[in-house]
Amino acid sequence: MNTSASTTTASHFDTAARDWDQRPMSQQLAAVPPRLLAHLPLAPTDHVLDFGAGTGLLATQIAPRVAQVTALDMSGAMLQVLADKGFANITPHQGDIFAGLPGRYHAIVSCMALHHVADTTALMQAFASALHPGGRVALVDLYQEDGSFHGDNEAKGVHHFGFGPQALQAQAEHAGLRDVAFTEILRMQHRNGREYPLFLMTARKP
Ligand SMILES: C[S@@+](CC[C@H](N)C(=O)[O-])C[C@H]1O[C@@H](n2cnc3c(N)ncnc32)[C@H](O)[C@@H]1O
Repeated sequence: MNTSASTTTASHFDTAARDWDQRPMSQQLAAVPPRLLAHLPLAPTDHVLDFGAGTGLLATQIAPRVAQVTALDMSGAMLQVLADKGFANITPHQGDIFAGLPGRYHAIVSCMALHHVADTTALMQAFASALHPGGRVALVDLYQEDGSFHGDNEAKGVHHFGFGPQALQAQAEHAGLRDVAFTEILRMQHRNGREYPLFLMTARKP
């Protein structure tokens, strides 16, 4: 992501952080972590990266099952809300994923952050190179939509109106990930009752 686009994204989320967990959208998204966990084998010794962790929708549900979670986000205010939740084994890391990752992981998870990244080919490569052999990704985002989900896409730093599975699968395989699979994980009610389906994409590094 270029610097001005990433500044737009971080400042949008800095402003939104305080009320993030109270939004009706966050309350619907609370259904995601248990469904994602049903598709992601984890061991108590694992170190997991939550990309675009925000206030910790995924990180806080994963932390009790593993040794360590790194919560990566560009927005310091979102990470502060997460830090205030007081999880000893969640390490907040403020930064852009393309500035480099602070470790290697047994799993990388993400919810609703992919559409904020312009170059998802590079993102899949960053994920693949940060995984231990045998590591997995479990990524949640919107299926292709018409741009109405966010409405003011530019102000919110939205680079994709959701995704077609075939394109993401090709990018993941190009990055060396295998066993790429998609399943619908949730239908969100948003914008006057319109429904927006979300996918869970899972894949494994050989
Ligand atoms: C829609 S929020 C989702 C937060 C949380 N996962 C949830 O579902 O509630 C997307 C988050 O991704 C972060 N983000 C977007 N692009 C990023 C990047 N290139 N590097 C790190 N964080 C990024 C944003 O700052 C924001 O907090």
